[in-house]
Amino acid sequence: MSAGSAATELLARFSSRARAGVEDALERILPSGEAPEPLLQAMRYSVFAGGKRLRPLLARAAYEAAVEGPAESPADDGFYEAAAALELLHTYSLIHDDLPCMDDDALRRGKPTCHVVFGEAVALLAGDTLQTLAFEVLASRPAGEVYAARRAEAVAVVARAAGGRGMAGGQALDLAATGSGAAPSRALLHEIHAKKTGALLAASVELGAVLAGAGASRRGLLRAYGARLGLLFQIADDLLDATASSAALGKTAGKDAAQGKLTFPAVYGLDGTRRELERVLGEARAEAALCGDPEGLLDALAVYAARRDH
Ligand code: IPE
Ligand code: IPE
Ligand code: MG
Ligand code: MG
Ligand code: MG
Repeated sequence: MSAGSAATELLARFSSRARAGVEDALERILPSGEAPEPLLQAMRYSVFAGGKRLRPLLARAAYEAAVEGPAESPADDGFYEAAAALELLHTYSLIHDDLPCMDDDALRRGKPTCHVVFGEAVALLAGDTLQTLAFEVLASRPAGEVYAARRAEAVAVVARAAGGRGMAGGQALDLAATGSGAAPSRALLHEIHAKKTGALLAASVELGAVLAGAGASRRGLLRAYGARLGLLFQIADDLLDATASSAALGKTAGKDAAQGKLTFPAVYGLDGTRRELERVLGEARAEAALCGDPEGLLDALAVYAARRDH
């Protein structure tokens, strides 16, 4: 078996077991009665529309790389709820990203966007509610006194990544740069991508390390790997927007150029973007190796982030 196919199998095995944990946790987090209708329906519509669940999967992979002792611990259910909180936050960011006042998109995860189905006001509130629910879950899962300090740290890590210095700030910079006609700046492009997408992916990896009780050095290495993977992930997103079909992506292809977004293809061209993707992938793989990645799962996730087709 070639190294490539062994890594693919490893990733497939990991993803199917970890995804099951995430999907079950999401069901527990979003029961009927969690919010009035149609708000809850809108939240569930977007959360269960599909999605790769990459952020919780990264948290789990980092947790397994960092935890001492058997990974299948009694805290597993609580772990998956904390990891699923990342998916709530991410889904909130997608619902808001698609609103008419932002990217104005009608297709997401292969379905009409939340505001197209439920209206803008409900979509706005669905995003708000998913965000606050994410922090409620992080503050209480995994349960148990032994996790108290780790939970507080987890809330801080994820809040920093979601806020003005992270995702929301990056989205603001993205919108300000959209169609501005200003000369494309590589520094601004990197800042936007690191903040709007990289920050939450880095925090996902760091969350796994924090919940595993990793020391400062291991945690820092994992965080650096996560930030690199986050940049890589958004470079691939830009490339896919320019080269793949809406059917393959489950979202509207070709929108970045149409809206004048500051993207890698706009600044580096398509070939230059492919070169940047390979360069950053090489860095992410080197950082995965530094993290202590015995099975090569972190490495396989970096390759996946770069080579994915949707
Ligand atoms: C899309 O994220 C938005 C970006 C940050 C690029 P994903 O590509 O992870 O979307 P889903 O969750 O699989 O739908
Ligand atoms: C969005 O970036 C990043 C988020 C924080 C949601 P994009 O605007 O490129 O994401 P897509 O292409 O709509 O998924
Ligand atoms: Mg956007
Ligand atoms: Mg968008
Ligand atoms: Mg995009």
